Amino acid sequence: MANFQVAIDGPAGSGKSTISKLIADRLQMIHIDTGAMYRAVTLLAIEKKINLHDENAYQFLESVNISYRDNKIYIDDRDVTEEIRSKEVTNNVSLVSSFPYVRNQLVEIQKKAAENGRIIMDGRDIGTVVLPNADVKIFLTANVEERAKRRQKEKMLKGQHIQLEKLVEEITIRDIKDSTRKESPLKKAKDAIEIDTTNLTVDETVDKIIGLIISAKGV
Ligand code: CDP
Repeated sequence: MANFQVAIDGPAGSGKSTISKLIADRLQMIHIDTGAMYRAVTLLAIEKKINLHDENAYQFLESVNISYRDNKIYIDDRDVTEEIRSKEVTNNVSLVSSFPYVRNQLVEIQKKAAENGRIIMDGRDIGTVVLPNADVKIFLTANVEERAKRRQKEKMLKGQHIQLEKLVEEITIRDIKDSTRKESPLKKAKDAIEIDTTNLTVDETVDKIIGLIISAKGV
């Protein structure tokens, strides 16, 4: 089938990854979670005990392969899907992803991965930087309380109880860092369609986006 690209951007906890994965399953597209890639770099940087504030210290990226395949994130052949969700990674990922050197390395991998096939990619800068010519661009939002509740539910399913106020704080800090950084800040592409999911179910959001993909002749 012909190439087709869907870009999904939005702040932490807006549902990008859940929604993108479901759409990929329904429409037989390849899903790439770019946030998982930034998290993998953060995990590796922590393990290597580099100075996280020193952009030059990330040169180790030249000799590792970060890839996202079949809903799993790999550093070379090591599956780090669970480890990248740790608190330590979450608290440092916005710093790590603020460096142009790190972004350039990952954006190159992401652009290559989207060259062939039917791709749905989610992140912060997909519609603006990675896939500026995407066939469909979506900007997902939801108010911060709702996003924190969703994150809390996700964690609960993994047996972790985290106070709602803590999650509101963590998400708010990450939103500020991601949208105020110099390099590729989180922002809606001019031609993206904004969907506020605060009062929408996952299925309603998925159906809405699939409708837009159909209108753009992606099905
Ligand atoms: O899933 P969650 O909303 O917690 O975030 P994520 O999508 O896993 O992304 C984690 C972090 O990576 C974000 O807070 C950004 O700092 C960074 N990121 C980015 O800078 N650019 C992207 N395309 C994707 C993520």
